[in-house]
Amino acid sequence: ALKTSFVAKAVEQNQRLYKQLQTQASYKVAVLGAAGGIGQPLALLIKMSPLVSALHLYDVANVKGVAADLSHCNTPSQVLDFTGPSELASALKGVNVVVIPAGVPRKPGMTRDDLFNINAGIVKNLIEAVADNCPDAFIHIISNPVNSTVPIAAEILKKKGVYDPKKLFGVTTLDVVRANTFVAQKKNLKLIDVDVPVIGGHAGITILPLLSKTRPSVTFTDEEVQELTVRIQNAGTEVVEAKAGAGSATLSMAYAAARFVESSLRALDGDSDVYECTYIESDVTDLPFFASRVKLGRKGVEAVITKDLQGLSEYEEQALEALKPELRASIEKGIAFANKQP
Ligand code: NAI
Repeated sequence: ALKTSFVAKAVEQNQRLYKQLQTQASYKVAVLGAAGGIGQPLALLIKMSPLVSALHLYDVANVKGVAADLSHCNTPSQVLDFTGPSELASALKGVNVVVIPAGVPRKPGMTRDDLFNINAGIVKNLIEAVADNCPDAFIHIISNPVNSTVPIAAEILKKKGVYDPKKLFGVTTLDVVRANTFVAQKKNLKLIDVDVPVIGGHAGITILPLLSKTRPSVTFTDEEVQELTVRIQNAGTEVVEAKAGAGSATLSMAYAAARFVESSLRALDGDSDVYECTYIESDVTDLPFFASRVKLGRKGVEAVITKDLQGLSEYEEQALEALKPELRASIEKGIAFANKQP
């Protein structure tokens, strides 16, 4: 009898847990470019989320196998695959969050801007479909150059009459993840505690880690600030060179993008304590787009945390002014591209 009651208890506990998972799992997420270097590990990490009920994987090729493989994981979400433009609308219908890592990555010697000609067109086409099929979704843009692809997406959404600046995000989470890692290493801090806001944009000198705002509070020498800032700005190139022609960051990027997806889902689910840095339409500087720390809520950006920009160090003030011309040019290039298209 004792044994039976143990078993019965275990079964009951399992059922309770399963029910909990079932009630939690209620959001649909689409990944566009899901068969790629970022797309595959990102899809795996999203498949592990208890908040996801359906995972829609879209790519122009090779996505069937990725979906079949992932579908065997015994986590709540259902995995569906969609191949090519004729299935894009179905991939997007009813989704709450769309993540876009579609496009070509950098090779050694290339800047993110060198990707513009190919990726701008890909993002434009995908966003047109997003506008037509899930205009209320949170849109996460990973495809580089993010400094330009986000303004492109905004223009396309405007043309379609469905632009909500609170729901369009350039994913800069990897810059924060890198900053946290490098600062923790340098200062011998417990990684889990470290938080460095990163503002500006997502390329070279437009990436501005606010080391003076590091939590927990730490002091850096001028040399440390210089060294850490440059390393965070060039971390992507570190990976591009190490991969020697085989692409750019994919695994750390997938980790960072999954964190941003999970934060978005928590915000959609009513969690009132969700903060992330992200590149959005913004009026905190004289630039129309700018990455800042924001508070996320059910409707997207609930508040921009402007106090990060107060009391900057002299180094940061100068870096902020120095990044503006490049960031402005990238924004204008994106807007011009979107508007010259028929
Ligand atoms: P990848 O080449 O491994 O994968 C890209 C995938 O996109 C491929 O599966 C390809 O078939 C797919 N694709 C191409 N055209 C498409 C279209 N029209 N519709 C749907 N899918 C399409 O490249 P990877 O390494 O996954 O990088 C993807 C993008 O992410 C690149 O633009 C890269 O620069 C960017 N990236 C952004 C980062 C960030 O911090 N925001 C960090 C690292 C990379």
